Order: sequence, then C-alpha cells, then structure tokens
Amino acid sequence: MTDDNKRSYHVERGDTPPVPPGCPVHQSWSPLDGEYLDDPYRIAKQLQTDHPTFYSEQLQYLVVTEMDEIERIFVDHETFASANVQDPVFPLGEAAQAIFAGAPDYNPVAVMSNRAEPDHGRLRVYTRQGFSSRRIQTLEPYIRRRSHELIDAMQAAGSPVEFVEAFGFPLPGETVFRFIGFPQADDEMLKKWCVERKAFSWGNPTGEQQAKIAEDMVSYWRYCRDFTASKRDARGDDLASELISLHEQNPTELSYREVESIVYGLSFAGHEAVTALICNTLQCLLPRRDQWDAICANPDLVPNAIDEVLRYDSSQISWRRVTTMDTTVGGFDVPKGTGIFLNFASANRQADIWDDPDTFDIRRPNANRHISFGKGVHFCLGAKFAKFETGLMLEILADRLPTLRLVEQDFDYFPNITFRGPSTMHLAWA
Ligand code: HEM
Repeated sequence: MTDDNKRSYHVERGDTPPVPPGCPVHQSWSPLDGEYLDDPYRIAKQLQTDHPTFYSEQLQYLVVTEMDEIERIFVDHETFASANVQDPVFPLGEAAQAIFAGAPDYNPVAVMSNRAEPDHGRLRVYTRQGFSSRRIQTLEPYIRRRSHELIDAMQAAGSPVEFVEAFGFPLPGETVFRFIGFPQADDEMLKKWCVERKAFSWGNPTGEQQAKIAEDMVSYWRYCRDFTASKRDARGDDLASELISLHEQNPTELSYREVESIVYGLSFAGHEAVTALICNTLQCLLPRRDQWDAICANPDLVPNAIDEVLRYDSSQISWRRVTTMDTTVGGFDVPKGTGIFLNFASANRQADIWDDPDTFDIRRPNANRHISFGKGVHFCLGAKFAKFETGLMLEILADRLPTLRLVEQDFDYFPNITFRGPSTMHLAWA
C-alpha cells in the first residue's frame, strides 16, 4: 500500500492523462452548469443517448452513463480505485495548499470510501460492528422525539415554514452526531464544517474560499482528534466508544489514527445525503397527491417509496473512481490515472431497467434496483441506516401533517457535482 493510498484526503493527483483515443469529447457540459443543477435528468438522458461514454473537457473526467458499465466499474475495484472520491474536483489553489502544508498535524488517513483493499475490508469489518441493528434501533426513540419536537416548533411558528432549516437539515445531522457520540453543544459547528466540506471536495470554490475552508478543515480534524481522546476516558453507548474499545482489543488491526479518521469520515458521510433525501422525498410526494395520501393512509408503503425516491430523484447523483492501470471503458482504451465520473442520474432512469422510468411510482416493483448507494466492496455502509431514518421521518410527517403541501416556489441547488437536494423548501399545511 502506498502512502498516497493511505493519505487520501485532498490529494493533488498530478497531470491529467490524455483523452482516450477515439473517445467523444464534450467541450461544454459540466455537472455544475446551472441548467443541469436545476434538472439533471433530461440532460443526463440526452448525454447517454448521444454517447454512453464520453470525456468531459470541463471536468477532465471520463463520464460513464450506463448502468451496466457503472456496475462493472464499481465491482472491479482493482482496476478502478476509489482513492479520488474525497478529493477536490478542481485543483487546490496555492493558498489552500499552503494552509495544509503549514498544519503537519492535519493527517487523517483514508479509512473507508477512499481506501483500497485489503485495508478497506479490514476497516469495514470493524466499522460495520458499530452499525449493528441494535445501535440503529436505539436511535429510533431519539429520531421520534426530535421529529415531534421539530414539528411542534414548525406548528408554533405557523404555516408556511422553510423546511430545510426547520427540520431537514437539523435532524439528520443531530442523529448521526448522537450515533457517533458528539456532544449536542457542538452540532452547529459540525454542521457548518460539513457544508464547507461539500463545497471543498465536490464544488468549485474560489481560491479564497478554498483557503478559508482549508483552515476550517484543519480545525474540524483537530476537533475529531480531541473528541476521540475525550471518549477514551469517558465511554458511552456510541460508535466512537465502540471503535476505541475495538482498537484496544486489536491495536495492530485497528490503529488509533484510523479510529480518529473514521470519526472524521462518518461525521460527513452520514448527514448531507439524508437531509437531501428527506427533502427530495417530500418534493416527489407532495405534488402527487394520490401517492402522498396513500402514504398517510398506509405507512407500509414507506420503504418502497424511499427506494423510488433514491431511483427517481436521488440525493447522490454521481460518484468517482480513478484507473489504477491501462484498461478499457465503454470500448475505449483508457490510460492509468484517468478520473471516471459515474453518472447515476442517467443510469437510474434507464428504460431497459424500469418501465416508464420518468414516472415516479411508490409501488414500482423494482424501485430498489437503483445505483444510488454504489455497488461492490464500497457499497454504502449507511444504506440501511439512511433508509430507516428517512422512512421514520416521513412516517411521522405524514401522520402529523397530512395536509402538508409545497408552496409555489423556485428551487435552488448547491453547486456541486454529486449531492442533490433543494437549498430551501417552503411548505404549508392547513
Ligand atoms: C441517502 C443517503 C445516502 C446515500 C445516497 C449514500 C450513498 C453512498 C455512496 C454512493 C457511496 C459509495 C459507494 C461505492 O463507492 O460503491 C457511499 C459510501 C459510504 N456511505 Fe453512504 N450514502 C448515504 C447515507 C449514508 C449514511 C447515513 C452513512 C452513515 C451513517 C453513510 C456511510 C457511508 C460510508 C461509511 C461509505 C463508505 C463505505 C465503504 O467504502 O466501504 N452513508 N454512500
């Protein structure tokens, strides 16, 4: 294993390899285009129809749009590494680089999504223990209580409310922070760092913004280290305490730095996409009144409805890989070191997999065939957790506020290549 593989946060990966010979090049499209951010699906379909695999000059990534090829790439983790998944899409400016260079203690190691085998498998076994059904179930009373409290506050404030701030943003963050063991007093600070991290690795911040975020990422990492140290002396029923105990039982198998880095990784992974998922769920359901009413009348429909949202309007519409050797993708010879952009927005709407794929249907029999949690060794560790949490929030909202509806509004999406959910969402009720 190389040091670069271990230290896989915000790495500069050197020169971009040449465009694969014969591969179509798209000179203007970028997933950060305003039109694509507003509605990726029509454009994604067109891109797939024009060229299932093409090179994006704006991104300098090879874009793969078809399900079969995306799944093949996910499964072949030796040829297609995940080392780049947490890297900034665009190069770091000098100011941000200088901040990392001036903070030698900024040294999180790649532990999960961006770590290669065999270490990834070793770490996943330990982290998975923290995701036991028992621990997830213990969060149920917390999610229920906080959902009711936030709905009470919405009702006290009166209709309409801005839902992202009132419910969608606070609850998933708090839930995963309690799961990890962070104290409640730090929630606001952690949430701010998570938003910055999204912009840093998946957006296109200016050099000045990058430098500011780099400073905050150093503080965020130092916070995770101090928090882990504090848990060593005061264990609780939380993931951090469990990982520390596992480290103490197997110090050579799970290092202390790896425990700190899992805390750093999960505090982001378990939060942003769930906020977007509950918002996208309401955005899909509320205008389709028959389907919303069906959910209100029969909560058994919730799990399949969540899968249908993950297919039709996912909170994660792409992921990345990088080639570890010369290989072929979509029939083109691709050199080692090529960045691959896996486009879920096109694959999740393929007509050869789903009948009438552009229709949202909570009763769709194969809704869960989507690729929104990835596939293979890196398949989302929090998939069960995310579905459970979102399902519970939906059930409670439907029960308490059956007259909920979207106010007429324009939606705005945070400019980034992967995570998708409205920045604000105004809801009203009778
Ligand atoms: C709707 C919510 C979520 C979506 C759409 C989502 C999606 C994804 C995707 C696409 C991957 C990469 C899979 C791959 O490379 O094959 C991933 C990995 C991961 N996710 Fe999630 N995720 C969500 C929620 C969560 C939650 C709630 C947690 C934790 C509490 C979580 C933890 C992880 C971890 C640890 C990995 C890395 C797994 C590994 O490399 O072995 N995710 N997720």
